[in-house]
Amino acid sequence: MRRTVLLLSAILLASFGISYANPHFAQEKPGTAEQKITPEDAAKKNPVPATPEGLAEARKLYGYNCAMCHGKMGDGKGDLAADMKLDLRDWRDANTLEKVTDGELFWIISNGKGKMPGEGDRTKERLRWNFVNLVRSFAKKDAGDKPKTESP
Ligand code: HEC
Repeated sequence: MRRTVLLLSAILLASFGISYANPHFAQEKPGTAEQKITPEDAAKKNPVPATPEGLAEARKLYGYNCAMCHGKMGDGKGDLAADMKLDLRDWRDANTLEKVTDGELFWIISNGKGKMPGEGDRTKERLRWNFVNLVRSFAKKDAGDKPKTESP
């Protein structure tokens, strides 16, 4: 009797574990499951215009969630990136993300990619689009800082 109970609970545990783990895994780690960006995702237009308020809100969270890898100025030289030996792109160079669409950036920020964890539903969609605006702004700011050579 005792054995049957043990066996039964073992089976129950195992099946519960499997049914629970599978969909959970798919939801929790979409980046590592090698999901691909669909053309529709890549073509998505940023519905959130870049405003000083939106950028400030994103910058604050960026300091907690992103800067340790991507660096405070978006140069890709955060402490964690160095520890993990990640070779991150330098967003201050306008050429870096020139060919990447807003939709692609949004998808990567949401779902993660490779060693990068995605934000998922942890942050609101509007804020994730503001992350896209912020990531773009690193290059714009840099370009604006350069002295204009063609000025009279
Ligand atoms: C653990 C380190 C880590 C953290 C934290 C992290 N990223 Fe990343 N991020 C990466 C890596 C690695 C890549 C490159 C992935 C690849 O191409 O395989 C990447 C790529 C990106 C890209 C695509 C463009 C590019 O340079 O490749 C964007 C946009 C991005 N991250 C934004 C963010 C934002 C916004 C946050 C915070 C919400 C964040 N990341 C947090 C490691 C990180």
